[in-house]
Amino acid sequence: MSDDKPNVAVFLSGGGSNLQALIDATKAGILSANIALVLSNKSKAFGLERARNEEIPAVFLGKTKSDGPKLMELLNKHEIKYIALAGYLKLLPVEVIREFAGRIINIHPALLPKFGGKGMYGHHVHEAVLAAGEKESGPTVHLADEIYDNGRILEQMKVPVLDDDTPDTLAARVLEKEHSLFPRVLQKLIKGEYSVD
Ligand code: GRF
Repeated sequence: MSDDKPNVAVFLSGGGSNLQALIDATKAGILSANIALVLSNKSKAFGLERARNEEIPAVFLGKTKSDGPKLMELLNKHEIKYIALAGYLKLLPVEVIREFAGRIINIHPALLPKFGGKGMYGHHVHEAVLAAGEKESGPTVHLADEIYDNGRILEQMKVPVLDDDTPDTLAARVLEKEHSLFPRVLQKLIKGEYSVD
């Protein structure tokens, strides 16, 4: 792209409502970035379709494309400066993590450092929050590194956990907050508002 907005790649594995929130934020002028590439490890992820609807290059990462050097090639080809993990269920190859250190964010649907780590995704997270009797939950956006849900926390938002919540009702309440939090944090990261080593 010829404007001065940085190119962002979004990785996902599912529906892509957070991808949509990022796209909508760029249109609304809340996020000064180009969502330039969308990648998924699931060929049928609805997020890929959302990308195609917006005429954003959408790539299914089969085995060959998801290896480190191939992926770096693809990201370089699209002049990617930032990576947003929006419901991506795999770890990025270490080459990519190192090259983009401090420029990769992940969104997680609970208040890390609780309820994170391998296997803690989707309904598993909300089930665990309910089983623990938590009174609050909410999304976390953090810098991503080589370990699931491990990097430095940038921002969180809180929502109440209600007595009659099911994993689905809680997930919906958290997801709504995700959609405002994720673009806001990405914008702040791009503007250099977090001190990143
Ligand atoms: C979100 O709850 C996010 O926190 C988690 O995966 C879910 C992705 O949802 N990492 P969507 O595909 O963006 O709708």
